[in-house]
Amino acid sequence: MAKSAVRYICSNCGAVSLKYQGKCFECQSWGTLVESRVEPEESVRGRRSSAPAAPRTQRLLDVEPSEFRRHTTGIGELDRVLGGGLMQASAVLVGGEPGIGKSTLMLQLAPRMAPAKVLYISGEESPNQIRERAKRLSIAAENLLLLPEVNLERIIAAIEHEKPALVIIDSIQTVHSEEYQSSAGTITQIRECAALLIRKTKQLNVVLMIIGHITKEGALAGPKALEHMVDTVLQFEGEGYQRYRIIRSVKNRFGSTNEIGVFRMEENGLEEVANPSEFFISGRMSGVPGNSILAGIEGSRALLVEVQALVSKTGYAMPQRISTGFDLKRMSIILAVLEKRLGMQTWGQDVFVKITGGLKLVEPAADLAVAAAIASGLANLPVDASTVCCGEIGLSGELRAVSDSERRIREAAHLGFRRIVLPEANTRELKPSLKKLPIAITGSRTLQDALSHLGIA
Ligand code: TYD
Ligand code: MG
Repeated sequence: MAKSAVRYICSNCGAVSLKYQGKCFECQSWGTLVESRVEPEESVRGRRSSAPAAPRTQRLLDVEPSEFRRHTTGIGELDRVLGGGLMQASAVLVGGEPGIGKSTLMLQLAPRMAPAKVLYISGEESPNQIRERAKRLSIAAENLLLLPEVNLERIIAAIEHEKPALVIIDSIQTVHSEEYQSSAGTITQIRECAALLIRKTKQLNVVLMIIGHITKEGALAGPKALEHMVDTVLQFEGEGYQRYRIIRSVKNRFGSTNEIGVFRMEENGLEEVANPSEFFISGRMSGVPGNSILAGIEGSRALLVEVQALVSKTGYAMPQRISTGFDLKRMSIILAVLEKRLGMQTWGQDVFVKITGGLKLVEPAADLAVAAAIASGLANLPVDASTVCCGEIGLSGELRAVSDSERRIREAAHLGFRRIVLPEANTRELKPSLKKLPIAITGSRTLQDALSHLGIA
């Protein structure tokens, strides 16, 4: 048998290094490399004297279309992020902070699979605790089997014996294989256990859902390593103490990514939010400086989102820049453009930006709404309450075209807004049907012009 080799695996990003280093070469974090033993595969080349027979290849045109079955869960917002339901024999990673509702969602999913068998393997809670939760959720699923187990070999044996349609592992951090010396939750255990579970369930044509906890930094522990192994990665967003939960598909081999599902945590579990735009702008106060509304796109859905900014004179040598739900570097660029191109005095001001509802805005089209909220706060002038906006901001202060302008316009009109300000490039070839909507479509070439249409500057 070949000797096991020592490798150093980053506990933050999962990168593998041959030698110890203080700093991970991949994610640049310090002191995260941990020693682990990897068992090398038996050296095949060493034993075989002749080259293996060449495997048969296939012409692309000859590939038979195979019918993959999707199981729609009936939870519309979940089906949406999955790309239309759970795909047969797929592996889904569900990540989120503790207490955000991962176990709850899995439990709610179980009765939707009936009459197909669901095996819920929990290393975190006892069957009694799960029963209590199921009672709260009014779930009495006859097809649901519980197994409190953390040992990988026994888990696999149970899957082989029960042959369920869906296996839920709650959570991968508690699973432990006898093959490896390291304790449960270490990167080696997480990687190897997940890999074996995925291989096994694919062989048996079983859907696998793996729950993974997220670290404080917001990354899945052992994250990168698991992300490339699974077919779909779903991530819970939203702050634990708020009632709203957003599930985003970060990766999906069977659907589009960045699709979101919006839920509300109620007494009896997660409930779908039927009209997310209304929810994201529901708490806004019109006529207050520092707010704007983005006509956004998340996945395949148009979504109106409120952006808030608080700008106040700093009491520090270095002004504070804090942002929740929006990238801090992009916020700095927007501040620099406001200062340099529009002559606004951002230096000497603390700036706080917040995207309401716990949503994380990633699309560049959000720039204009963030700039508008900050400029509105700086100028102490409210953005016109019946106007929404979108647009990417360039370093010269120009507005760059956004994707999917039609859906943005329709959603804004649908929710009763009177005007949408967007990059001029998006207004050049508008469909006649859009012009008939009860909303004014205003194109701007520059940030300056857009801000004046929004009632600031
Ligand atoms: P849980 O699913 O246990 O989170 P996770 O598995 O991601 O750690 O959710 C726990 C939280 O949800 C807990 O704070 C209580 C709350 N909750 C409700 O508000 N209503 C419910 O019906 C349930 C089951 C939980
Ligand atoms: Mg849980």
